[in-house]
Amino acid sequence: MATIYAKAFGKTILFGEHAVVYGQPAIAVPVNAVYAKATIEALPKTNSHDALIVLPNLGITRNLSDFADNDPIRTAISITRDYLSIKMLPAMMITIASNIPIAAGLGSSAAVAIATIKAVSQFLGFSLENKEINDLAFQVEIIQHGKPSGIDNSTITYNQPLYFVKDYSMELLVLKNPIKIVIADSGIRSLTKEVVAEVRALYQKEPDTTGMIFDQIGDISKKARAEIEKGHLKMIGNLMTLNHQLLVRLGVSCNALDNLVDVALGNGAYGAKLCGGGKGGIIIAVTPEIHIEKVISALITNRAANVFMTTIGSTRDKE
Ligand code: MEV
Repeated sequence: MATIYAKAFGKTILFGEHAVVYGQPAIAVPVNAVYAKATIEALPKTNSHDALIVLPNLGITRNLSDFADNDPIRTAISITRDYLSIKMLPAMMITIASNIPIAAGLGSSAAVAIATIKAVSQFLGFSLENKEINDLAFQVEIIQHGKPSGIDNSTITYNQPLYFVKDYSMELLVLKNPIKIVIADSGIRSLTKEVVAEVRALYQKEPDTTGMIFDQIGDISKKARAEIEKGHLKMIGNLMTLNHQLLVRLGVSCNALDNLVDVALGNGAYGAKLCGGGKGGIIIAVTPEIHIEKVISALITNRAANVFMTTIGSTRDKE
């Protein structure tokens, strides 16, 4: 049988993280500069029905049955097999490689799950619809993140900019023009599950103030949608910085992220904010074309672990 492979890109949240868990709208986009790739080869000479899993980034080669029951890769494979009503997997080797930094706000866990679900289903002879892939990936995200909104798996599955309201609607966002975004990684790793739980505890302790912050973030997402559709970079940037300030009030930023946001703003960015769970991971900045190089080199000088650029809203990437 031919080798099968499937790819899934990273994602970033332009507006609305955390508030999205409480029903506010959020805007997320795929990041095609990073991706996870699952490759499957048959092992015809093996009698075992246990898949061999190779994770080159982590230096791991192990049988699937040796992974913990709640391991995200094991979960992605078993829910796909169950969904397709396959009793026993054929002998196969699944290699999952990714250049998406883990726990950095770039959707690494969702991308790995989606690449795995796509490759396994194709290898078993099925061509799943995006909705089916998304539903399966959401189940993996629930095990991984506790109570996720579903924005990460949806953005990555559909591979399009999304205006997303949890349990309600998901609209493809059409950008007037492609937008260049500078992404700077603080190098600090932080688990989304833990930060989401901290925000939940804050909401329980101070429901009025926290609820008001969620509402304000939701208003920003609504305004940002209109500005993105019109292509008003400066307004998009202003709204990003406002969104960052509200995330600071939610307690999900940290000195390193605030510093990177200030460096981007001090070097000509229209706006900047942390992305994803926070307390580490990445910031993004929207910058006028003439200042992009300056912003990138200032972020590098000011201790960003990695800085790169991505263009959102261009033609869809091949999977
Ligand atoms: C994580 O990328 C985004 C959060 O809003 C959590 C979620 O939506 O599930 C922090």
